[in-house]
Amino acid sequence: MQELLPDNGSVRKLWLGETEAYASHLLRLDNESRRRRFSGAMSDELIRRHAASATGLGTVVHGFFVDGVLRGSAELRVYQPGEAEAAFSIELPWQSHGVGSALLERTLLSARNRGVKRLRMHCLADNQRMQQLARKFAADLHFDFGSVIGEVDPPRSTALSLTREIMEDAHGVAHAIFEAQARLMKSA
Ligand SMILES: CC(C)(COP(=O)(O)OP(=O)(O)OC[C@H]1O[C@@H](n2cnc3c(N)ncnc32)[C@H](O)[C@@H]1OP(=O)(O)O)[C@@H](O)C(=O)NCCC(=O)NCCS
Repeated sequence: MQELLPDNGSVRKLWLGETEAYASHLLRLDNESRRRRFSGAMSDELIRRHAASATGLGTVVHGFFVDGVLRGSAELRVYQPGEAEAAFSIELPWQSHGVGSALLERTLLSARNRGVKRLRMHCLADNQRMQQLARKFAADLHFDFGSVIGEVDPPRSTALSLTREIMEDAHGVAHAIFEAQARLMKSA
């Protein structure tokens, strides 16, 4: 279930109270990645507000953590029943190491379990890596090139897909506690 990720990193959902960590990650993106993540220019202040708004019931953010620091994220926002938007950001040193693939897989599972029928991912036309990433999930994604890269029509959630998400959440919590304790012991 847990993929081999760079630097022994791990993926789990962000918890309430991690808004600051989310904002810091988004602010650390290099200019090009920031432009691609938000499909255009975005000021620091707007990024802080964006991160603060990602705590609502219809929003799920998966994070990629290395040594307790958030280095990648996938944000799923359900904006009306059956419809959602997803956006991804990986800090430059961790790009092209499979993190985006791991995050997209988790996001598709969460979308499915929330009854999302149409998932949009805005993508600049020159963003080949994101297009390549979406192509890897061609079984789930239907392409519509333009500003929208794909639409997903996942089958309904099943007991198995719900169990998978619950188990991944439990694993994420256990891993985070283990890591925090290991860091404490190292620094003692
Ligand atoms: C786009 C992004 C999310 C992709 O995540 P990633 O972790 O870099 O991607 P992965 O390593 O999982 O690679 C996915 C696929 O992209 C392709 N790919 C990887 N590196 C590539 C590169 N440098 N150029 C072109 N394609 C590339 C590969 O086909 C890869 O599939 P493979 O692992 O089967 O070979 C990430 O690079 C990113 O955050 N970029 C900046 C922000 C952004 O563009 N967000 C998307 C808009 S919402």
